Parts: sequence; structure tokens; C-alpha cells
Amino acid sequence: MTDRPALSLHTGSRGSRVLGIGSFQPEKVVTNDDLSKVMDTNDEWIRTRVGIIERRFAEKDEELTDFAVAAGKAALADAGVDPSEVDTVILPNCTMRTLIPNAAAQVAARIGIPNPGAFDLNAACAGFCYGLGVASDLIRAGSAKKVLVIGAEKLTDSIDPTDRANAIIFADGAGAAVVGASDEPEIGPVSWGSAGDLVDLIYMRDEKFIYQEGQSVFRWATTQIAPIALSALEAAGLKPSDVDVLIPHQANLRIVEAIAKKLRANGARDDMVVADDIKYSGNTSSASIPLALDHMRKAGTVRSGDVVLAVGFGAGLSYAGQAFVSP
Ligand code: UT7
Repeated sequence: MTDRPALSLHTGSRGSRVLGIGSFQPEKVVTNDDLSKVMDTNDEWIRTRVGIIERRFAEKDEELTDFAVAAGKAALADAGVDPSEVDTVILPNCTMRTLIPNAAAQVAARIGIPNPGAFDLNAACAGFCYGLGVASDLIRAGSAKKVLVIGAEKLTDSIDPTDRANAIIFADGAGAAVVGASDEPEIGPVSWGSAGDLVDLIYMRDEKFIYQEGQSVFRWATTQIAPIALSALEAAGLKPSDVDVLIPHQANLRIVEAIAKKLRANGARDDMVVADDIKYSGNTSSASIPLALDHMRKAGTVRSGDVVLAVGFGAGLSYAGQAFVSP
């Protein structure tokens, strides 16, 4: 026995839930034909091999933080939550060009959130699911009451515009979620992990441009990610047939379809809605999942109360997934 005083802890809630979603994309639309004017590629190849029809690129003077502010505000408005109620901001991203300062604190200040805990989170394209998992657990532990998770990327800063393997895939944008307490759990446990032995498959070359061994990443994603999604469902006590909406990270439509096919082979319904936001948004890394969800809610393909299964994967290699109820 020790005579040191007992520490007290916050009291959390039984569950957590997503209260609102928002997103932002820059105005500039870049088509496959536009890209074929600056590199050896063509519309037919990009559509059939990757599924992208067009994407959004930032202008030079538009920054990742600008996108994050806009997406964060939109999510708060959707949730009906005042900035003053938010106590924590998590900003998953992997393309903030300055390591100091982080993006989260300045984005929070610009949104008008007074002095929140604020940090960036780098799990590359798995970042949003990592951030949502951390937000949910902070709330359940009582360490936070309302968390704003904003996945934001300006990938065009990190792409060699003549590298046809990457310049056709990646794009810019942001997507955000507001997370709060709930008596009934509406966000399942995160299933996450990493394969650091495969670190050389995606990295920044000379700290400047992203390099990826596309085919190897493709093989890994099409074989290793569906089991992560299934384990996230199991952790939440759900069955594949319970899933209304599947949102894999929008890396390549063929990867999305391969994951959906494996889930259906394990009992997911034929009428499960599968995100294909990559067609018009490209691959926006940590922004792609909330961006897709926001677009699908606005299009009416996802309704309030639907069970969403999200799974992110990318550099690290890192991966994470969870089931949650759409607001
Ligand atoms: O978000 C982070 C995680 N990242 C991913 O999940 C990305 C995973 N990888 C991929 O999505 C795909 O591997 C890529 C889209 C990157 C590349 O597609 P691929 O089908 O694996 O192409 P490939 O590299 O195997 O190349 C196939 C052919 C080659 O021609 P030959 O040698 O067969 O004559 C390439 O030179 O396609 C050619 N090619 C292109 N042609 C037109 C490669 N890139 C292009 C291009 N346009 N942009």
C-alpha cells in the first residue's frame, strides 16, 4: 500500500456519435484531358485503370489550412454545434509542408474555437479513421466533450506534376466530422494497424514528391484491407449484412470494388451503397472518406441512421476502419 493520494479521472459517456459532416474542395476542376496535355496519359486509361473522371486542384495561394477551415465550419453547421462548444481539434493530414506550427491550432483559431486541445495526426490515407477512433475514445473517456476531426490535404504540393503514376491520382480537398457523446454507442471500436516493413512502398522522395510502387500497394490493398473492414464490423458487434454504406479510402475505384466484392462474399448485401466519390474528387488521402460521405449525404444516397463502414489505408503502411451511424 502506498499513501500517495488517489488520482481522479474524468467521467465519460457510454458511447459516442458523429453529429455532423462537412467538406470543401477547391474550385479548379482538372479533367483527364487536361492532364494528357502535360504528360503521356489519356482519359481512357485513367477511367479504366483508376476510375477518375476529374479532380480538384488547389491554386498556388490556396492552402491545406484554408480547406480545413471551410470543411470544419461546414461540419459544425451541419451538426448545429457552436465553435465555442468544441474542446478538441484533430487534423489528420500528411501534406502540411511546415512541421512547425501544426495545422490544427491555427485552423481552430480561424474557425473561432477557443483554446482547444489541437493536434495533427499523420497516418496518411488512413488518417481520418485514426482520427475518428481517437475522437470517439477521448469522448468515452471523458477527456473531451466535442471533437472536430478534419482530414485535409493539399497533395498537389507534394506531387511531381510530370509523374504520371501519381499526378493522375492525387487531388486536394478536406472533409470533417463533429463527434460528441451518446448514451447508445454509434461509433464502433477502431480496428487499426500498420505494416512498417512495407514502408518503402509509399514515401516522399527527397522530402519533396510522393513516390509509390503502385502495383505493390494495389496488391496489398486488394488483399489486406477487406479483412480489416470485417474485423471492425465484428468489433462493433455487427454483421456484413448490417452495412448500408461502404466507404473505403478513395485510392482507386478498382480497389474500392475489390473490397466491396470481398465484403459481399462474406454476407454484405447487394444493395449496400459503395462510395465512388473518386470519380469526381480523385484521391484526397485523409480527406477522402469524409468528403465521400458528405457528397453522398447531399446526393441522398446515404440517409441519417444508415450504418457506414469506413476503412482507410495508405503510406506507413497504415490502415484503420470502423463502423458508425451516419448523422
Ligand atoms: O492512396 C494511397 C494508397 N495508394 C493506392 O492505393 C494506389 C494503388 N495503386 C494504384 O492505384 C495503381 O497501381 C496505379 C493507378 C498507381 C497504377 O495503375 P496500374 O494499373 O497498377 O498501372 P501500372 O503501373 O501497372 O502500369 C500499367 C501500364 C504500363 O504500361 P506497359 O508497361 O504495360 O506498357 C504503364 O507504363 O500502364 C502504363 N501507365 C500509364 N498509361 C497511361 C502507367 N501510368 C499511366 C498513365 N497513363 N497515367
